[in-house]
Amino acid sequence: MDGKPTANDLSEIVAADKAHVWHHLFQHKVLEENDPRIIVEGRGMRVWDQNGTEYLDAVSGAVWTVNVGYGRRRIVDAVAEQLMKLNYFAAVNGSIPGAEFAEMLIEKMPGMSRVYYANSGSEANEKAFKMVRQIAHKKYGGKKYKILYRDRDYHGGTIGTMAAGGQIERNMQFGPFPDGFVKVPHCMEYRKDELGLGHLSGRDFGVAAANLIEEVILREGPDTVGALCLEPVTAGGGVITPPEGYWERVQEICRKYDILLHIDEVVCGVGRTGTHWFGYQHYGIKPDFVTMAKGVASGYAAISVCVTTEEVFEMFKSDATDKLDYFRDISTFGGCTAGPTAAIENMKIIEEEGLLENCTAMGARLQGNLRALMEKHQVIGDVRGLGLFVGAELVRDRETREPVSEAEIAQVVAACAAEGVIIGASNRSVPDRNNCLCFAPALIVTEAEIDEITAAVDKALGKVFG
Ligand SMILES: Cc1ncc(COP(=O)(O)O)c(C=O)c1O
Repeated sequence: MDGKPTANDLSEIVAADKAHVWHHLFQHKVLEENDPRIIVEGRGMRVWDQNGTEYLDAVSGAVWTVNVGYGRRRIVDAVAEQLMKLNYFAAVNGSIPGAEFAEMLIEKMPGMSRVYYANSGSEANEKAFKMVRQIAHKKYGGKKYKILYRDRDYHGGTIGTMAAGGQIERNMQFGPFPDGFVKVPHCMEYRKDELGLGHLSGRDFGVAAANLIEEVILREGPDTVGALCLEPVTAGGGVITPPEGYWERVQEICRKYDILLHIDEVVCGVGRTGTHWFGYQHYGIKPDFVTMAKGVASGYAAISVCVTTEEVFEMFKSDATDKLDYFRDISTFGGCTAGPTAAIENMKIIEEEGLLENCTAMGARLQGNLRALMEKHQVIGDVRGLGLFVGAELVRDRETREPVSEAEIAQVVAACAAEGVIIGASNRSVPDRNNCLCFAPALIVTEAEIDEITAAVDKALGKVFG
């Protein structure tokens, strides 16, 4: 398995792609003059395109997914064996891998007890939203139906999850959205002036940022608010790590007003933040819902889950004679056995190879390297992150914190690719705030590879900003 893959002539594939494939998040005009990039093969941390060009992948499949790296024979074999035995049966019934993975997962999530299978991050979030709405009807006469979401957070691309979308640019031209979703302010310390909290720092800032959520609850009426949905670390909105004291206060506020806490771990879940399996576990929170998708099976199969507590689950089975008294929802492909089979192997790999620890150590090195680059490159205004989920915010001026343009950010990403390293960036999400480079290499990344990533960034910044 060592060495480059052998070159093949993929011109027909390129032609078929250009003629018929509609790429995600992509303005196709450029393909009238250029070829699309087709990723053909991956091994470990590296991928190859149709021309045989090799890239070090610093964003795990571009969107923080392939946590255990490419070419894991063990996952492929387990999935192949399971598919021959039973590929699918609707999850109205049980399956062997479904039961096994649910047990493994719950062992890692003290306080949680039930796993609901679906197949995308958006879908898992929709499941939680539907549960919240049904609870509002069952327990509160339909009144406690509002779902709070945070500025700059993202929960998916369906109309329902976009209604809970804090990235305004993503939502443009897709409205109107359903009612009952209410925005709360973000908690980004680097941009605390925007929140009117410029005078505060550290814990004082964290508590005050959480109190802004309480203000919204009081304005809306606590008896109308059913849930608060937050990312543990905001991902595409600019890698926003929560300030000290924030989560404790958020939890207190939820308890005070009987509001269910929904943590969207679609990006952070299953190892990405290091040390713990989940982002929320860094902050001692007890959520009511945890949704996850990307890293659950590292993209070897499509799977997402909405995990909840026994207390929530119990609310859906009190009266068997009431035909509405259960969660009336199905996800056809939530019954695919490939997902949980791949997820089991994925979790075992993380455990057996000590990848939570590697994630923490390599994340610290990545942040350290990027901070060191701040001396040379004034354009790096802030470096933040948790584990192997790291962002570098680029600004024109460190004093004013004026962001660089999205076009400049795109040039840095392109310059890194020219150096053979694929990095990510916030894009078309928050107006005038799409100025963050994103790094989320697989949890298997080595010191040498981290250094290779930051060396490419160093060169790219030199090229774009001088
Ligand atoms: C935090 C978060 N939640 C939900 C989603 C939606 O996941 P999916 O694209 O699988 O629907 C994403 C996707 O990037 C995400 O970053």
